[in-house]
Amino acid sequence: MSEAVHTKLTPGGLPGRRGAVSVEKPQEAGKTIRRLWGYLRRQGALLALVLLMVLLNTGANLTCSYLLRPIINDTILPRDLAGLVKMVLLLLGIYCAGSVAAILQARWMVVVAQRTVSGLRTDLFAHLQSLPIRFFDRQNHGDLMSRFTNDMDNVSETLNDSITQLFSSSITLAGTFILMCWISPLLTLITLVVVPLMLWLASRIIRKSKRFFLGQQNALGTVNGYIEEMISGLKVVKVFCHEEEVVREFETLNEDLREKSTKAQLYSGIMMPVMQNMNTINFALTATVGGLLSVFRGLDIGGLAAFLQYARQFARPVNEISNQFNSLQAALAGAERIFRIMDELPEPADADQAIVLGPIRGEVSFEHVNFGYTDGQTILNDLSLAAKPGQKIALVGSTGAGKTTIMNLLPRFYDIRSGRILLDGIDIRNIRRDSLRRSMAIVLQDTHLFTGTVMENIRYGRLDASDEDVIAAATLANAHSFIRRLPKGYQTVLEGDGNNLSQGQRQLLNIARAAVAKPAVLILDEATSSIDTRTEIAIQAGMDRLMAGRTSFVIAHRLSTVRNADEILVLEKGEIIERGTHAELLRMQGSYYALYRGQFD
Ligand SMILES: Nc1ncnc2c1ncn2[C@@H]1O[C@H](COP(=O)(O)OP(=O)(O)OP(=O)(O)O)[C@@H](O)[C@H]1O
Ligand SMILES: [Mg+2]
Repeated sequence: MSEAVHTKLTPGGLPGRRGAVSVEKPQEAGKTIRRLWGYLRRQGALLALVLLMVLLNTGANLTCSYLLRPIINDTILPRDLAGLVKMVLLLLGIYCAGSVAAILQARWMVVVAQRTVSGLRTDLFAHLQSLPIRFFDRQNHGDLMSRFTNDMDNVSETLNDSITQLFSSSITLAGTFILMCWISPLLTLITLVVVPLMLWLASRIIRKSKRFFLGQQNALGTVNGYIEEMISGLKVVKVFCHEEEVVREFETLNEDLREKSTKAQLYSGIMMPVMQNMNTINFALTATVGGLLSVFRGLDIGGLAAFLQYARQFARPVNEISNQFNSLQAALAGAERIFRIMDELPEPADADQAIVLGPIRGEVSFEHVNFGYTDGQTILNDLSLAAKPGQKIALVGSTGAGKTTIMNLLPRFYDIRSGRILLDGIDIRNIRRDSLRRSMAIVLQDTHLFTGTVMENIRYGRLDASDEDVIAAATLANAHSFIRRLPKGYQTVLEGDGNNLSQGQRQLLNIARAAVAKPAVLILDEATSSIDTRTEIAIQAGMDRLMAGRTSFVIAHRLSTVRNADEILVLEKGEIIERGTHAELLRMQGSYYALYRGQFD
């Protein structure tokens, strides 16, 4: 074992600069262990076998050492060769059995550990899917990722090694101690003086080094966060020519990490030699006193030999236990961070009487809705609007006016503070969320495409859509022609959020995805903002066909796209300041008129 006090330094996945410390002291160790045990217990049978193997292995080790006593006393001293051979064969047998147990123990524990971590990972991921959007608003994504990487690794490694090692060390310690007492209580006294001294020293070193390790983990988190941020912001860095500053800042952070790591490693490096020296002192003392005892007090030579064997081994489990202490701590801290996410409240359950929608007409109304993302903040103030089935409602207004916010409320990404939102006259809080969301399709302001083929990405809107449906939807969205020009057409694989497409093409695919869903309510948030005006005119007909017969909400900065809306709502600071058709609003000569003039003169 090269390092005495060791803490894992798993690269990557650490939280950014503003993130929390990754290796921290577990706050509620007891509770965390109990929850972790809940996962381990599912592998109960195999785990029991592992512990049995540990018991066999340590038992074999202890026995082998003890056998020195009868071998020396009963065969070597009386010069009984046949007896000696028999004993040596017995020794060999026990040793082999112990080795087999050790191998099985290690293999089975890996299985137990990996199954446990896999279960934990699935549960964490499933829980993430159930969490409300609000949760992700206030989470650092890098930090969330690190629960799956860094924290899981800490748990996994500890389960792999530490548990069996702690168990075997404890048994070895107890067994050795009992056998030592059995051979010579007087000699055991020496060990009893030296070992607590060793423990005391070890704990002092650990306590000191822990501070440095924490500092090191912190610095590592900062460096990783910085790298992550600079890679994702590479284009911005380059365009403003900040490369040199970035490197300089990185050097400062890196220097800090170097300093803290050096300190941590230096301190942990002290552990091994100190322990070894103490061990040697213990051995020398025991050997001297033991020799005297055997000369003057008749302690048997075999007993002394076995005792010395134990005394020399005594420090090993002590050492191992203290070694495991740090990684155990890291694992518990990791598990705690994982469980903390699992304790986050999921989207509130649907009301008991919540209904599943049948076919709907698509009548939407907001009645005196108040909403803010955080307490004390009001984004929408007493907002009312109504859309009759099949109507096209346009939302226009300046940036930050609250257009996207309104549309976030309809699928219940967020719940409103007061007022009501009705779909076909039913309060949406009384509709099951899945049913509510299935009744509408949204083309978000920021597009998202999954890794997969173009076909799969469009079909995401409705999984049972046939290839023909997909192609029809793509044609409607005017995406068909560019898709055909892609190297493999509909089978082209999109990667990294569709990085190999232009922003406008990504939007067309998103529109096609909404089209294939054939929803009763359609929400288009800046769906055509990145599409050139010629293409926009070209897809206008398709869009009109898509919206025909569906209640549609269209958010657009380009007013040409909303001219034919049944009603245009002009939003300012969360309030509707003007409403009417294009012609009516122009006649009013208010804000809409000013906006329109601004775009077309
Ligand atoms: N997740 C969020 N948490 C807290 N505040 C938010 C959040 N999203 C938006 N806001 C705030 O709500 C206000 C309205 O934002 P919204 O996204 O609705 O504007 P918008 O009208 O869609 O603007 P744009 O035309 O730029 O898309 C803004 O002041 C913004 O700061
Ligand atoms: Mg918006």
